[in-house]
Amino acid sequence: MKIKLCVCILLSGILLGCGTVADKTFSKVTIDGPYKYKVDSVMKLMTLDEKIGQMNQYSSDVSATGVMTADNTKLQQIEEGKVGSMLNVVGALNTRKYQEAAMKSRLHIPLIFGLDVIHGMVTNYPIPLAEAASFDLDLMRRTAAGAAKEASSMGIHWTFAPMVDVSRDARWGRSMEGAGEDTWYGCQVAKARVSGFQGKSLYDKNTILACAKHFAAYGACIAGKDYNTVDMSRLELQNVYLPPFKAACDAGVATFMNAFNDFDGVPATANTYLQRTIQKGLWHFSGFTVSDWGSIGQMIAHGYAADMKDAGCKAISGGCDMDMESRAYLSYMKELIKEKKVKEKYVDDAVRRILLKKFELGLFDDPYRYCDEQNEKKTVLSGELRNLSREAGKKSIVLLKNTNHVLPLSNPTSIALVGPLCKSKDDMRGGWFGIGTIDGVVTINEGLKKKFPYAQVNYAEGYDINTNELKEDSALLAAKKSDVVIVCVGERIFQSGENRSKAHIDLPSTQQQLVKDLKSTGKKVIVLLCGGRPLIFNELTPSADAILMTWWLGTEAGNAIADVVSGDYNPSAKLPITFPFTVGQCPIYYNYKSTGHPAKDGAPYTTGYMDQTFQPAYPFGFGLSYTTFDISAPVTDKIQYKMNEPINCKVKITNTGNRIGKETVQLYIKDKVASITRPIKELKGFQQVQLNPGETKEVVLVLNSSDLGFFNGEGQYIVEPGNFDIMVGNSSQNLKGITINLRKE
Ligand code: BGC
Repeated sequence: MKIKLCVCILLSGILLGCGTVADKTFSKVTIDGPYKYKVDSVMKLMTLDEKIGQMNQYSSDVSATGVMTADNTKLQQIEEGKVGSMLNVVGALNTRKYQEAAMKSRLHIPLIFGLDVIHGMVTNYPIPLAEAASFDLDLMRRTAAGAAKEASSMGIHWTFAPMVDVSRDARWGRSMEGAGEDTWYGCQVAKARVSGFQGKSLYDKNTILACAKHFAAYGACIAGKDYNTVDMSRLELQNVYLPPFKAACDAGVATFMNAFNDFDGVPATANTYLQRTIQKGLWHFSGFTVSDWGSIGQMIAHGYAADMKDAGCKAISGGCDMDMESRAYLSYMKELIKEKKVKEKYVDDAVRRILLKKFELGLFDDPYRYCDEQNEKKTVLSGELRNLSREAGKKSIVLLKNTNHVLPLSNPTSIALVGPLCKSKDDMRGGWFGIGTIDGVVTINEGLKKKFPYAQVNYAEGYDINTNELKEDSALLAAKKSDVVIVCVGERIFQSGENRSKAHIDLPSTQQQLVKDLKSTGKKVIVLLCGGRPLIFNELTPSADAILMTWWLGTEAGNAIADVVSGDYNPSAKLPITFPFTVGQCPIYYNYKSTGHPAKDGAPYTTGYMDQTFQPAYPFGFGLSYTTFDISAPVTDKIQYKMNEPINCKVKITNTGNRIGKETVQLYIKDKVASITRPIKELKGFQQVQLNPGETKEVVLVLNSSDLGFFNGEGQYIVEPGNFDIMVGNSSQNLKGITINLRKE
């Protein structure tokens, strides 16, 4: 029998109605350090109205990322101390104008300017899902730092990123904003991105507040429909969806954003269990939590609040500190306190949290320290940031197929370049591009022409970018007169992202037909696939000699793609999310559970489909290189381990091809028998290794026994003794294993 060894605090939630939230779920923020007295000294001067003002956030009247209430009085309201933060106000000059208004308020409390800086500000990096494919955590830290540098030079103090939602359903358009389907990997990426945005000190003018969103379980919307209901066990919540948020919290994330969905029947925005019991209680989170856009008011549509006043009451009681664009707090909080429906200490706690961040940013020392036009000029789209974007771009491209080494191309004399995306600047930026430049984008056409200056590039549209209608004649002609065909197909910028859920994630049949017809010319066909999520393209696959998943790579997309096509960069990326074979498999992910009828295609009474394989088209962790690698079976230093003893797992990796290349060695575990059912495998480590042709290196991956644990039904994190498979390889489906035993003592 297994014994529970490591016991953490019980995660029991108590949910009561508005105004009756049990006090035991309330944890007042503890402020230590340099601002301990300063925050309270400001608090003492504040009227209740001024406190409520700090909890109110508006969008600018000119640009919005949701349904906005535009009024012409925002500047005036700021002067009256009714606004604590603005979003979508951008630029050193513009933010100064708003900050000047705040300085006219009675207490001169500065505003915080927030923006969705998701993958860059003006210089765009690959979309987060693409960048996660790089498996390069330091790169992700550096691009977040680059984004922070550019954003802060334009007056921004706060990004609504990283999105750390685990996404297992390709139909959900917001998969593009996160790190994919894996919880453990999601934790590593969350830490990297938070530390990139926030740096070592928020006082540093190049850093900004990060925001882990959407708290919580937003990615588990039923049927992949954005905003949809979430229905899951607390076991699933704790083991799969919460850990990346906890990792962000441990990395010191300054803020959280709650979510549009409900959990356990309570909208996340008012969910006491999520925000007070776990986040502010158990995790001792000392930052503040902002609502999602209008999510307080949306509780009326959820059928959870009777009206805006009730919604405001429930949101603050549930632990939501700042109201983004609902105006519930501003309109009703004072009344709610007077009527004793809301305790004033909730307001005080929220405001202390918000003021603390304003102090940490240095805004009380100088409210204009981020409004520096000179700095803005020299930072925006700088060579340094563009180089970083190109580096991130090439490291994010996944090689899915490469028959007979058709790639890389060495000195082609002529290329047929087909598909309107090859000349598109707009689409390369990818959704949630901040205020990303269009003019500055390097197209695929430009990138390839620069890379192959002596090649004749024969461009043809191939299909209509808006209707997908085929325009084949010129494309086939271009193919016939060229050495090789490069055809770009896939999604446009607005086809993945918020509110972009899809029931069909197959490429349009005309795009797939185009590839088939190009192949019928007898030429080698290289397919570049753009998009913000896993796509299905089985029809074109046999006609493609090579397939590169090129996502949306940002400002330097064309150069990054050319670097890979030419072989100047040997692709090293791996899929951070499963690519389904058919949409009916969604949600599909590698770390599913065995069930009592383990999946086996073709066998009766197994967990699968009678009309289709249960296997994906491309599994998590998959990605080819221009060279090949052999990874040996893992060897551990012994078979029997005691609790808390490190498990050293060694493999030998050899570059068996004839090019220098980088492989991502991945380590997975399986708990063979546990007190709850566990996944068939779980990623718990990886290492990237660069090898010359013929070179062999030993890689040591170290596991701790805590890596072998899980949350049980009572919310305790436990590690149980027993047998564990340790599996190592270069994708979730290409693994060799060994079994070890973990003893109780
Ligand atoms: C999105 C958030 C975003 C916010 C502000 C909402 O619609 O869900 O992720 O940060 O808008 O733009």
